[in-house]
Amino acid sequence: MVSRRHVLASAVAVGGAAALPSSVDKVRASSVQAYTDVDLSAVHGDPPPYPESTHHLFMHGVASGDPLPTSVILWTRVSPSPEAVPGSGLGDDVLLTWQIALDERFSRVVREGEVLATAADDHTVHVDPFGLTPETTYFYRFLAGSTASPTGRTRTTPDADSSPESLRLAVASCANLESGYFGAYSDIARRAWAGEIDVVLHLGDYLYEYASSVNPGKTGVSRPFEPPWEIVTAADYRVRHGQYRRDTELQAAHAAAPWVVTWDDHEIANDATVPGAQGHDLFEGDWAARRAAAMGAYLDWMPVRATNPAEGGRLYRSLRFGTLAELHMLDLRSYRSGPGLIRSTDPERTMMGQEQFTWLSQKLSTSAATWSLIGTSVMISPLELLDLDPAVRAPLAAITGADSGAELATGLNADQWDGYPADRERLLTQIAETRPDASTVFLTGDIHSEWAGKVSHRGRVIGAELVCSSVSAPNLDDALHLPTGSAVSRAAERHVLANNPHFEHVNLDAHGYLIVRLDAEGVEGRWLRVDDVERAGSPVRVGNSWAFAGGA
Ligand SMILES: [Fe+2]
Repeated sequence: MVSRRHVLASAVAVGGAAALPSSVDKVRASSVQAYTDVDLSAVHGDPPPYPESTHHLFMHGVASGDPLPTSVILWTRVSPSPEAVPGSGLGDDVLLTWQIALDERFSRVVREGEVLATAADDHTVHVDPFGLTPETTYFYRFLAGSTASPTGRTRTTPDADSSPESLRLAVASCANLESGYFGAYSDIARRAWAGEIDVVLHLGDYLYEYASSVNPGKTGVSRPFEPPWEIVTAADYRVRHGQYRRDTELQAAHAAAPWVVTWDDHEIANDATVPGAQGHDLFEGDWAARRAAAMGAYLDWMPVRATNPAEGGRLYRSLRFGTLAELHMLDLRSYRSGPGLIRSTDPERTMMGQEQFTWLSQKLSTSAATWSLIGTSVMISPLELLDLDPAVRAPLAAITGADSGAELATGLNADQWDGYPADRERLLTQIAETRPDASTVFLTGDIHSEWAGKVSHRGRVIGAELVCSSVSAPNLDDALHLPTGSAVSRAAERHVLANNPHFEHVNLDAHGYLIVRLDAEGVEGRWLRVDDVERAGSPVRVGNSWAFAGGA
């Protein structure tokens, strides 16, 4: 367990001009080691930040995910003919050879085999090779005849008994193709190839289901959606996944490191629950069929070891990083009893569902790892927006997902854990009882803005929460059509911090992602920020950091 120390928060100005310290961060300088802002473009090239549409066999790239000590899922999609586009159901079966090697030139292949790509799976394949060595970097590729896929880089996790010194996770969410470019993913790719990132966590809104032009960026649509209508059918979801995976920046990030993913609502429909969704209307057909199709397409296209919850399978799962950390990835969309309701005490109103709660409780109480990381698609910390200037509260509530009149009246967001207080209380009680040394860290996405703070239960700190900003989806300055870091945003941040003292960092304008580094002594989050997501190739700079030392 982590040492008993007082909780420490810190911000560091790093990289000279690269630092973008927010004047409202309630943090203080510390001796946390500065992050070197090196030019990583030379490390492994700089992918062109626009979608590639020319047909070739491996035009959707490669990916890996859900690493274990002896295996990691390897993924690709093959396009056997120009007509065999995602969602078409067209194209012959293709027998692929997969290879995994210790070197990029494949002179030391350690495992290989064959896998059949078929139209039934949208010509996507998942390979679970096993027999690999723990804590080892591997390179992998697929071959169709004499044509080779791009080469991917991946890494197995440490043995369960070993004690790795540290773990570095890139944490990302909310990538809207129409509201900007994916510079965050390019940066993840460069840093992963440079050995600065072990695993990429994607916490949802990997894609958006909207029709074109519904949710543009500050100045408009960067790249129009395919198909242009709101995606509803299995074919629609597959087409949208295929479009995303032609983005070379996203391809580069997938190819550079293993990903561990969970969905939020937009992979399915806005504010999705079991009985329905805010974003699903009667004329769009049967909700259960849409949900199953969306989940099926996601599982086909992601490098994930999971089965479809809409068909009795499950996405929630744990991954172990030796004795240092255990990561629990939650699925907060497959068991939601219905829309959230602020201050409801109804114990039946659930986000996790009983089975997932029991599973997580067992994991938390039996894990011997120093840190418990909980990947949650939506924020667990309460958020109170009361008394905020209505002209700012409305767009802020909209970007944090609170888009109903009732929510605006209270200023709270019922799609987050705030809307399921009984579920939250049950989980925090469980953590307080089984992990009293404040060694639980929630890693969160969804709200297109940077947040960090301590998580308390009945006045006692039991952990921390770190929230990544959006890869590109709009946030406060975009919604208000103001420059990044305007006086309006800064005032809103001050208001949020003053009324929500458990938060110690917030930035409502930044886009990018979060790097979380943990060791036996503590956890440090550092936000990476894209200068201008609407400009292809825009620089990514090191932003604020926030540290948490755990300890009761
Ligand atoms: Fe989002």
